[in-house]
Amino acid sequence: MALHFAPLDARWHQRSSFVSGTTALDSYLQQRASQHQRDGIATTHVLTDSGDPARILGYCTLSAAQLTLSALQEADRQRLPAYPVPAVRVGRLAVAAAEQGKGYGQLLLGHAVNLALSLRQTLGVRVLVVDAKDTPAAFFYQRYGFIQTSENALTLYLPL
Ligand SMILES: CC(C)(COP(=O)(O)OP(=O)(O)OC[C@H]1O[C@@H](n2cnc3c(N)ncnc32)[C@H](O)[C@@H]1OP(=O)(O)O)[C@@H](O)C(=O)NCCC(=O)NCCS
Repeated sequence: MALHFAPLDARWHQRSSFVSGTTALDSYLQQRASQHQRDGIATTHVLTDSGDPARILGYCTLSAAQLTLSALQEADRQRLPAYPVPAVRVGRLAVAAAEQGKGYGQLLLGHAVNLALSLRQTLGVRVLVVDAKDTPAAFFYQRYGFIQTSENALTLYLPL
């Protein structure tokens, strides 16, 4: 078994069988992710296992984003210019129901952080932003250091 991350390839990855238990996250992968990727709205990254490489264990989506300066906690605003804060947004993140609790959510989040950090060689990225779908999901992000924005308790950021 070897885990891999790759951008979604609609011709290869099996989207129709992905079930996370959250219908909106499943139907996004099945119906919209590929189109959003083509149109430059969001890029989907999938986690697969080399033993069954077409099967999607989990996915996350990334997009360019920004936060207003006032959305950050005061300590995180220090020394920042009075502009919107450049960000990368994890719009969606889900793990297949049968695979939850194995650390794949943590791996996907770590992959998103690594991608955002690698982008900094090309463009400014100050924070990783996530939109949690509900309060339990927000707790999932908080355990990895994400902080609630002042504007919305379900929008959280991680200073990079
Ligand atoms: C939330 C989700 C992504 C977590 O993925 P996972 O692979 O099950 O999580 P992991 O195995 O990597 O667990 C990492 C840690 O987060 C905790 N955790 C898992 N799901 C959690 C949840 N819903 N709320 C709070 N904490 C959670 C685990 O207990 C674990 O902590 P531990 O290491 O101290 O035991 C997954 O349950 C999922 O896809 N749920 C449905 C969709 C969803 O809620 N997405 C959230 C983003 S909107």
